[in-house]
Amino acid sequence: SMLDSTDGSNLLAIPPLQRGEIEQGARVFRLSLTPGQKEFVTGVASPTIGIDAPYLGPTLEMRRGEWVQFHIDNKLAEGATVHWHGFELPAAADGGPHQLIRPGERWRPSFQVRQRASLYWYHSHLERGAGPQVYAGLAAPIYVRDDEEERLDLPSDYGVDDIPLIVQDRVIDGSGRLVYPLSMHARMMGVRGSRIFVNGTENAVFDAQTGQLRLRILNGSNARLYDFSLEGDRSMQLIASDGGLLDRSHIVRSVRLAPGERAQVIIDLSEGRPLRLLASSPENAMGMMGGRGMMGGGMMGRGDSGDASADVFQILDIRPASSAQRIRVPTQLASLAPTDPSSAVRTRRFVLDMGMMGGGMSINGAAMDMNVINERVPVGQWEIWEIANASMMAHPFHIHNVQFRVIDRDGRAPPPLETSLKDTVIVNPREQVRLLLRFEEHTDPDLPYMYHCHILEHEDAGMMGQFVVVKS
Ligand code: C2O
Ligand code: CU
Repeated sequence: SMLDSTDGSNLLAIPPLQRGEIEQGARVFRLSLTPGQKEFVTGVASPTIGIDAPYLGPTLEMRRGEWVQFHIDNKLAEGATVHWHGFELPAAADGGPHQLIRPGERWRPSFQVRQRASLYWYHSHLERGAGPQVYAGLAAPIYVRDDEEERLDLPSDYGVDDIPLIVQDRVIDGSGRLVYPLSMHARMMGVRGSRIFVNGTENAVFDAQTGQLRLRILNGSNARLYDFSLEGDRSMQLIASDGGLLDRSHIVRSVRLAPGERAQVIIDLSEGRPLRLLASSPENAMGMMGGRGMMGGGMMGRGDSGDASADVFQILDIRPASSAQRIRVPTQLASLAPTDPSSAVRTRRFVLDMGMMGGGMSINGAAMDMNVINERVPVGQWEIWEIANASMMAHPFHIHNVQFRVIDRDGRAPPPLETSLKDTVIVNPREQVRLLLRFEEHTDPDLPYMYHCHILEHEDAGMMGQFVVVKS
C-alpha cells in the first residue's frame, strides 16, 4: 500500500517514465486520455482524467534535436486538447484551443525537439475548459535531455535522485470528494484548494538513497502561487528555470512559482537529517501579496474555495539514506547569451486587466476570441514584449512557441530564477515586465498560438490572445 501506517504519510508517487519507441527515425509516444477514479481521501473515489493513468500521466522523456510523434487517443466523453507547454513547434502541433480532439478521435502531432534540457509539461488547453480538465488530472511532466546538461553530471537518475514534483492544490469536500467550485470568488481569484498534493500524493514522503537530490518543481495548480522552501530555512541550490539551466547556480532559501512555472533545485542530504519541503502562499484571499508568515486572515476571511493563505504546508518529507556522500554541483552551469534589448526591432505592449467579480478578464481591453488574430509577429526578429498588469492581483503571463528572456521588472534587474530562459513570468499588480524574444521558425499566416494568463480560470474567462508568426 502507499500508506505509511506509522504517521499517516504516503509514499510520494513518481509518474512512470515513458521513452516512447523509435520508429523510422522518430520517437513515437502512444497516449490515451482516459476517465479515471482517484482516492484523494482514502476510501472515497472521485472521478478524474488521466493520461494512461487514472490521474495525471507519464513523464515523457525526449532528447533535444530528435523528432517526436504522438498518437493521442481521446477516450473521454468530452473533447480535450493536449498542449506542449514550453515547446517551439508548428502551430498545428501546439495543442492549443484550435487542436480539439473530439471523443473517440486520435490526434497525431509531430515536431522536432528544439528545447534545451529542462522540465516542461503537457496539459489540457481546451477552449473555456482548461481549468476543469487540468484540475481533474489532464497534466503531466516532460523531461528534455541534452548533451550540454549531461556534461555536467548533475543528478539525473529518474525517480532516484532526479524527482519531478507536480504541486497542485485541490478542494476536497466534506465527504472526501474532489470538487471544482467555480464560485464568484473563484472566478476572480482562480480555483484554490486548501489541500496540497504532490504528484497526486498528500503528506508525501520520499526515501532518498543518495546524498543529494535534484527536485524539479512544477507549479501545476490552477491558480495558487507558492513560495517553496526547506524547513529550518535551509538553503537550496537553484540550477534551472522553465527553459533550462541558469548560467550559474544560486544559493536560495525560497523559490516563488506561479502556475505554469518550473524551477530545479539541488538539495543536500549528506548530513543525514531529514529535509522537509514547505509551500506557502504569498497572496492572501484577496490576491494581495505579502511576505512569508505575514498573511493575516485577510478581509474576506476564509475564501469560499478554501483559503490556505495563512498556512505553511509541509508538502514533502525527504528521509535521508543511512550513508550518503556529497557530490559537488558545479557553480558554472551554462553559457547564455546576454539579454540585449538593443537588438529588438519593435516593442509590443500587453495590458492585463480584470473587472470586478471575475468578469472582464482581458488583454489590451479584449477577451479571447477564437476568430480574432490579435498580433502578427514576423519570424526571426527580436522584439520586446512589455507586459503591464493593471489589476490588483498577480498574473503569470505565458507565451506559446518561445523561450524568452526577462529584461527587467519596472526597470529592476530580474531575480536569479529569471536569468535564464522562461516561458511563463509573474507580473505583479501594477507592475510592468519587459521580455526579449524571437520566434525562430514555423510560420503560418492563419493558425495562431496563444499568449495568456496561466491562472486557468482567468485563461478560461478570456485573459488570452492569439498571435500568428508570419514570414518577415
Ligand atoms: Cu501551459 Cu497556454 O499553457
Ligand atoms: Cu490572471
